[in-house]
Amino acid sequence: DYIYELKGLRDLENVLESKLGIEKVYIVPGDCDNDKLILKDLGKKASIVIKNIIHNDYIIGVTGGTTMAQVSEEMPKQKGKKNVLVLPARGGLGKYLETQANNVAAKLAEKLGGSYKLLHVPDNIGKEALETLLQLPDIDDTVKKIKKMNVLVFGIGRADDMARRRQLSNVLIKELKEKGAVAEAFGHYFNTKGEIIWESNTVGLSLVDFEKVNNVIGVAGGARKAKAIVAICALKKDMTLVTDEGAARKIIELI
Ligand code: BG6
Repeated sequence: DYIYELKGLRDLENVLESKLGIEKVYIVPGDCDNDKLILKDLGKKASIVIKNIIHNDYIIGVTGGTTMAQVSEEMPKQKGKKNVLVLPARGGLGKYLETQANNVAAKLAEKLGGSYKLLHVPDNIGKEALETLLQLPDIDDTVKKIKKMNVLVFGIGRADDMARRRQLSNVLIKELKEKGAVAEAFGHYFNTKGEIIWESNTVGLSLVDFEKVNNVIGVAGGARKAKAIVAICALKKDMTLVTDEGAARKIIELI
């Protein structure tokens, strides 16, 4: 629209695509760190991007977080495609019900006129408990479907913010910091180069799975997340990033 043109955001998208070395970047005006309404715009933009790549019989994986909750919120209700299935990409129950991946999946499915499956596996449980859970037919089935997802839409967090939000131990938080973790996505923590530092112990999408997903869309805004976004974009060349102007301008300063 007008503001987008006026601010030269199309040029900024092109610069970011080549600097980050990824396929596509979309930028909405503003910075969601300063104005919570921008998160709404970010969600709306992402919902359009998702809508345009969905086909019949697609499996869509989603993560939780405030950004992804907003994406599901902003998705217009539709009946376009048949037999769409939405799944949480990974186990792990956040503290707040409305931003859990399970909830995002259910809401998005409802908007798309599709179905959903939930994954009731907490983050960071013991190995034995995890193996027992994996033997449950329902969890086994969901995990198999996760491995076959056609589209992944995920939030990107700062490692420090996410470690705190997920209530990791102080020892682990310190270790993550010392090892240079700056970004978190789908339960994995990465350094600035996109090298894995640590991952939470749960089921679902692994890093190897992530590399194989055909359509990957990261959604994150706010200048505070710039470093984290750069790190995640180093993971996959053929990904799409939906971000805001605040993060985009900060990223340009960084790289
Ligand atoms: C989480 C995702 O739920 O949301 C994380 O699982 C992501 O991978 C995080 O880092 C981002 O949260 P928010 O609230 O900043 O959108």
